[in-house]
Amino acid sequence: MNKLSIVGAGMVGEAAAQIIARDELCRELMLIDVQGELAQGKALDVWQAAVESGSDTWVYGGSRAELLQDSELVVITAGVPRKPGQSRQAVLSTNLPILDGIMQDIKRHAPTATVLVVSNPVDVLTYRAWSLSGLSRNKVFGQAGVLDTARMKCFIAEETGFSVRDISALVLGGHGDSMVPLMRYCAVGCVPLSNFLSAQQIGHIVERTRNGGGEILGLKKLGSACDAPGVAIAQMVDAIANGRNRILPAVAILEGEYGREDVAMGVPCVLAEGGLTRVIELDLNEQERAMFDGSADQVVRDIAEMKALLGLE
Ligand code: 2OP
Repeated sequence: MNKLSIVGAGMVGEAAAQIIARDELCRELMLIDVQGELAQGKALDVWQAAVESGSDTWVYGGSRAELLQDSELVVITAGVPRKPGQSRQAVLSTNLPILDGIMQDIKRHAPTATVLVVSNPVDVLTYRAWSLSGLSRNKVFGQAGVLDTARMKCFIAEETGFSVRDISALVLGGHGDSMVPLMRYCAVGCVPLSNFLSAQQIGHIVERTRNGGGEILGLKKLGSACDAPGVAIAQMVDAIANGRNRILPAVAILEGEYGREDVAMGVPCVLAEGGLTRVIELDLNEQERAMFDGSADQVVRDIAEMKALLGLE
């Protein structure tokens, strides 16, 4: 990939930039932030760190929207984080106009770029970004499930004592209290999790995963998680930039899959050259279907709240 831009040079944007530059996932990495000098300073720092890894990614920063020009992929991390005790939806009224402004800039300066939305509430803002873009869902999607899955793998490793290298996990649904950890699809070395853990232990992992972001926020107080979100972004970027054809969970616009349409939520997707090339539909059992529907209904309500804020409905 020639050029990738990250809009929002806060903690998450910077964490992602460090890995993207270190792993040479693009030739040029642009950090854009309303605080242009901060973005420039962070860009220099990230670049100089990447140099030590032998990377030839050049990193620049600034505030001007024109800096988006020629971007093949734009990652949006701009916006305020929620405060301890707040839901992700609570930052909607602040982050929605920020997202709208960024989408206008992208349409003007990088209209064919693929867009990866990370800012919260990510399901609602991914839906909004897609609606504004006029692009297909292959080009506009969001990050949540890779992070939620990493959290779940961490808790499974802690509970079982097994290496994360052998743990596979899957989280669907909205990125919030209604997310749907699919324990039937979790395994250690291909052996189902239920071979190692009791229903109570599994229930504890599910709860901790749902509250994974809140747990960190409650402890850090002044900021939400940044390192694991940064890694999650970089994994998705790597899949696209290197055309890996990876199956990763992403916030996708559903077009009839799982019996839903006109909503954005976490589902397994194929990420490859060109972006999100396919949504994978799983056979859910009755209980999983009920959880998925509950989560979808919540996202639909959140999108309706966004439309009401915009005076659209
Ligand atoms: C998280 O889950 C900030 O939503 C992000 O940590």
